[in-house]
Formats: sequence, structure tokens, C-alpha cells
Amino acid sequence: MKHLLSIEQLSAAEISALLDSALELKAARGSHAQPLAGQTWAMVFTKSSTRTRVSFEVGIRELGGFPMFLSKNDIQLGRGEPIKDTARVLGRMVHGAVIRTFAQQDVVDFAEYSGIPTVNALTDDEHPCQILADLLTVRERLGGWEGRKVAFVGDGFSNMTRSWMWAAKRLGFELAVASPPACQPPADFLATLDAPNVTVGSDPLVAVADASVINTDVWLSMGQEGQLEKEQEFAGFEVNSRMLVDAAEGHIVLHCLPAYRGKEISDETLEAHAGAIFQQAENRLHAQKAVLVALCAKH
Ligand code: CP
Ligand code: NVA
Repeated sequence: MKHLLSIEQLSAAEISALLDSALELKAARGSHAQPLAGQTWAMVFTKSSTRTRVSFEVGIRELGGFPMFLSKNDIQLGRGEPIKDTARVLGRMVHGAVIRTFAQQDVVDFAEYSGIPTVNALTDDEHPCQILADLLTVRERLGGWEGRKVAFVGDGFSNMTRSWMWAAKRLGFELAVASPPACQPPADFLATLDAPNVTVGSDPLVAVADASVINTDVWLSMGQEGQLEKEQEFAGFEVNSRMLVDAAEGHIVLHCLPAYRGKEISDETLEAHAGAIFQQAENRLHAQKAVLVALCAKH
């Protein structure tokens, strides 16, 4: 693996190997090898972050490397220097890069022009690191996804939903997305996805029925703040105890966080499932360390 740019580009075998490695790194935290020793990794962020920033900074350090956090306000990218120039400069100085930004193409261009291992730490299209942590949590909590139904309630075309749809395509589990009609994935995306195991509808109760994993995420992703018309589409989409009555026995609720209680999830439901949700947050660290180790391996 040279880069991690999307879940779409990973095979089932690669996902499985990353999760195996993450579990090993989690068990051996504090005593595992440090394959990033002597390396500096740039973290270029043009959007806010708590979990991603902290988990990458800690993870890079635990693997022996030095993280260099570069917000867009600190570097010339924020004043309009092209991503391909930023990439060519950083590529000559640092050993790898973690990028959080808007356009997926910017991460793709960074990888191409820098020539160094590049990780997508969230774009408008995908959040692959989060999905790896989510899958790790499903494996730990439920033993895996085989034979289980996964539901996603919320924005049907956000980075999280798109990443879950690609994960379902690659791994073959049933994924039911419930989203207001105006927020559902367009036909051309679904045609490209070409996954009969992924269904999209507008009734959350149908999606949640018999689901073992119920995911949600903010209704307005970063960059969409203030889109009140979009937010109004989501009436009736709060994940709460009433919505979960027909979920499978022993189901878990996941939320990538940050959460807006009283919007996409009720306070009661978030707190009832906090064990899984904060395990999911912690798993960012372990899953990303597995990604970094894989990227350091000789190709
Ligand atoms: N889930 C997630 O990526 O959180 P942050 O935006 O805080 O990094
Ligand atoms: N869909 C959300 C995920 C945040 C981790 C966003 O892009 O803001």
C-alpha cells in the first residue's frame, strides 16, 4: 500500500490485514516496534479536528516518528499556494503526509506530486481512517459483520455514508441507508458503486429494522454550516430509542463524532451507547497506526 486515499481503493484483503494489524498494535501498545523512527510526517489540515489530529499526533509519536501539524492558517496554502507546489516542497523534506481538506482531488494531487505516502484524513468524499476504526469496533464488539445488517441514518451522500457504502461493496455486508430524498446519493454514484447489498431509502425505521449496527453522523458536514434548508430536510431522522425499537438484539450505535445531541442523535441514545462510541473514537489511534505501519513497509 503506497497511500490511503479512500476505502474505494482498498480491497477486502487489505482492509482485513489493516484491522488485524490494528488489533495487534492495540494489544502491544507501549511495547511494539517503531518503524517511523527518524521520520517526520506533515499533517496538513484545512478543516477543524479533535480526534483525527490527536490520534495521528499520538500515533506517529508512538511509532517513533515526529508529527508536524500544519494548519492552513500557518502555511502558504491558506494564502492560495497550489496544492501541487505545497506537495512538491513537503515531498522533499518530510517522509509522509496526512491531509484533511475539502476536495478529494487535492489529496490525490498531493499524493502524486509529493511522491511520499499520503493519508486522507477526511475530504468531502471520504473518511477512510474513520471507517477503519468503525469496522475495528464492529469486529471487537460483535465479532464481525458477516451475516449482519448495518444501517446508516442521516446524510446519504456525506463522506461517512460514501465510505460506508464502499466498505459494504468491498466487504459484502448488507447496508441500508436512510436519508431524506434531497440528501440521497445521485444515480450516477450508485451506478458506479454497483452494490446490490446497499439499499437507499427515506424511512429510518425500515433501515434500522433488524440492524446490528446503526450509524449516524452530523446532518451538516464541515463546509456546510449555515445550510439551514438542508438541515430542515432531516425532521424525523434523530436516532433515538423510538427509532431503535426494531433493531437487532444486541445492536450497537456508532457515531464518528462530533455529535449534535437533539439533532442527529438524542442525548439518551448517545449516552446509552457511549461505550461503543468512545471505543470507536479510541480505535482511530489503533487503526491509523496500522495504516502508518503499512505505508512504511517496503514496496
Ligand atoms: N471523527 C472525526 O474525524 O473527528 P474530528 O473531526 O474531531 O477529527
Ligand atoms: N461528515 C462529517 C464528519 C466529521 C468527522 C464532516 O465532514 O464534518
